[in-house]
Amino acid sequence: MERVNESLTAERYRVFSQIDAQDLSTFYSDLAIAIADDTELLEMIDTLPAAKRHAGFLFAAARFHGVDMNDFETFRRDLLERWYDIAETARTRTLQTNDPARMLAILPILSEIDGPIALIEVGASAGLNLNADRYSYRWGGSEWLHPRSGPSAVRLAGDIDGPVPVPSRMPDIRWRAGIELNPLDIEDDDDRRWLTALLWPDHASRRDNLQEAIEVLREHPVSIIEGDLNDRLAELAAEVPDGLTLVVMHSAVLPYVTQDEAERFVRTVRDLGAVWISNELADVVPQVTGSPVSSNAFSFVVARDGVPVAHAHPHGVWVSWHAPTARSDGDESS
Ligand SMILES: C[S@@+](CC[C@H](N)C(=O)[O-])C[C@H]1O[C@@H](n2cnc3c(N)ncnc32)[C@H](O)[C@@H]1O
Repeated sequence: MERVNESLTAERYRVFSQIDAQDLSTFYSDLAIAIADDTELLEMIDTLPAAKRHAGFLFAAARFHGVDMNDFETFRRDLLERWYDIAETARTRTLQTNDPARMLAILPILSEIDGPIALIEVGASAGLNLNADRYSYRWGGSEWLHPRSGPSAVRLAGDIDGPVPVPSRMPDIRWRAGIELNPLDIEDDDDRRWLTALLWPDHASRRDNLQEAIEVLREHPVSIIEGDLNDRLAELAAEVPDGLTLVVMHSAVLPYVTQDEAERFVRTVRDLGAVWISNELADVVPQVTGSPVSSNAFSFVVARDGVPVAHAHPHGVWVSWHAPTARSDGDESS
C-alpha cells in the first residue's frame, strides 16, 4: 500500500483504525485511515500536546463542535474551518468517557459479594457507573437481570465467552461515592455535550443508554469528591458506615497516572482491606499479572483483588471470562 506519511501520528491513526475502531466504528476507522495519509491534517494535529492527538479524543472534540463525521471530505472541511475551537476544546478537556456498559464486566463480581456493599469508584467521571445496580443487564442469551425496583431504561447487553458467572441478583449497594480529578456535571450543558461527544458513533444503543443513565443519575445523585485518587481515597473510605463491605473499583483510569502513583494506589486499596475490582488495559495495573493473552488486541483485563478473571471490550461490547472468580466468604455463586 502506498503511504504518504510515516510520522508517529500517522502510524497511531492507522493502529487506531485497524485495531481500536475496526470492529466498533466504521466511521472512526475510515476517518482515521484517511487522516493517516493526509499530511496537512497530521501537521495540524501535531500542533496539539502529544496526549491530545489520540484519534478517539480528537474525534470527540470535533463532534463537540458539530463536525460532520459521515464522509471524509466533509469532515476534513469542517475540521479545517473549526480548528481553532476544536483545538481549544482538545487542550482544555480530557478523555472522560463514562460508559455504563463497562459495568457488564464488573457487575458479576459485585454480585458475588455477600452482604451490603459500600462502593467507591475512583476516576468516576460523571458518576454514571456508581448507579450500576439501577440498570438492567443481559449477558449473551441470559435472562435480563433487573434492578430490585424493576426494569431500567438503561439496558446493557453484551456478548459473552467462557464461564461468565452471570449474576442472578443485583449487588446490595447501600453506600456509594466517587473520586474524580474533574467531576463532570450532568446539569451543565457543555459537560453533558462532552459526555455525548465522547461516545463513539455507530451505536445508537450506547447513546440511548447514556441519556437514560443521566436521567437515573438525576433521580439518584451520587456523591463525587473532587481530587486525585491517591490523595482522597483513605479519607473517603473512612466515611464508610460500619457493617458494609468496602469495594473499590476503577475502569479505564490507571493509564492516566504514573507507575509510582498506580503502585501507591494499589497499596492503599490493600491496606484498606477493600475488595478491589479493576477493569483496565493490560499491564497498567501493578500486581495484576498473569492474565492469558486476549485474542483481541483492544481489550481490558478485569481483575478481582489483583487476580485476572476476564477480558472485556473497553466499551462493554463483550466479556470473556477465563477463570472462576475469587470467592467472597460464604457466597454460593461460582
Ligand atoms: C476514561 S474515564 C473513565 C470513567 C469511568 N471510570 C468509566 O469507566 O466510565 C477516566 C477518568 O479518570 C479520571 N482520572 C484520571 N486520573 C485521575 C486521578 N489521578 N484521580 C482521579 N481521577 C482521575 C479522569 O478525569 C476521567 O474522568
